[in-house]
Amino acid sequence: MKVAGPKQQTLRRLDSRALSTALVGWYARARRDLPWRHSSEPYPVWVSEIMLQQTQVERVKDFFSRFMERFPTVDSLAAAAEHEVLRFWEGLGYYRRARQLHAAAQQIVAEYQGEFPRSTIGLRSLPGIGRYTAGAIASIAMNLPEPIVEANSRRVLARLAGYQKRLDRPGDDEPMWTLAKSLVPKQHPGRFNQALMDLGAMVCTPDRPLCGRCPLARFCRAKQQGSVDRIPLKAQRRAVVQVREVAIVARRGNRVLVERRTAGEWWAGLWDFPRALLPQRDPLKGSAVALASAVLKGLKCRKPEHLATLKHSVTHHRVTLEVVQCQVTEAGPRTIGRRWVRLAELPTMAMASPARRIARIQALHEPIETILSLRK
Ligand code: ADE
Repeated sequence: MKVAGPKQQTLRRLDSRALSTALVGWYARARRDLPWRHSSEPYPVWVSEIMLQQTQVERVKDFFSRFMERFPTVDSLAAAAEHEVLRFWEGLGYYRRARQLHAAAQQIVAEYQGEFPRSTIGLRSLPGIGRYTAGAIASIAMNLPEPIVEANSRRVLARLAGYQKRLDRPGDDEPMWTLAKSLVPKQHPGRFNQALMDLGAMVCTPDRPLCGRCPLARFCRAKQQGSVDRIPLKAQRRAVVQVREVAIVARRGNRVLVERRTAGEWWAGLWDFPRALLPQRDPLKGSAVALASAVLKGLKCRKPEHLATLKHSVTHHRVTLEVVQCQVTEAGPRTIGRRWVRLAELPTMAMASPARRIARIQALHEPIETILSLRK
């Protein structure tokens, strides 16, 4: 097997049959017992693979089980309202995945009579299913010899091949796909692919890999070269950006104003409190009334109270969020994407995770008069 990289780097020939026998044998003994592995139907495999994009296995476990309980079939998912799907996704992040999952379920029901297309080309025509997810569904649920490359298997493949070039830019991992394609066996391709991922997660780890316990050690070029620690080449981290924002909790009796985040914003489709950027070092105090009124686009904001300072991260942004509560006497004009909701309704709404933290602040659930008198 020869793999040509972008600059025609030739990877060493690997004995693919012996390698896959060793790997699948190891998997039979050492595989992780994960909830989505209790079935090899396309639907649970698909849901789990979408959740596993950008999210750690341990975190996905509970979300997966709850999601499958509520939406056990592709038909039940297609029939659900989007906000309910988002509610069950809440806390997993990257909500575009949930919206695409929902849209794809509707497409599978409307165009394919509820059956998944049985090829990677067909699968990739669905929203949210890219090369990796299509390969995972095809190999695990349909027994098709399709390769996959994700973070864990990419590292295993790069070390096996002694591949010393960068892998962090778009297109960099093309040689890894070629290598994966040449290795995936016709028999049990799904087991082989999952074994590669488990090996990367448990043995061929980024730091301090357990080469002494690796079933593929005798095939591993990086081990022979003594370059395991240097492969894959470390990506350059994106610089962290500090951001400061204010969220306004506008109260009108037992109602509170929420806004739906729109496409292109963080948490698109989810509910949040009105927010605005703050200068890095604004003391907040004197300008709070004007600031809150400006954020609320014209609504008059009275008696502002600083409720909390929250910290959270979104991609490479570290956000410091000042939460200010104020009283509003009028509802203002009707605006698309804005609603006055009862406080008791908040737990049922799909909210951005910082908004959920705000919604749980105890003071928010007390009558506003009590808060104001307590703080005098
Ligand atoms: N990461 C992505 N998909 C996975 C799977 N099916 N098993 C384990 N880890 C994974």
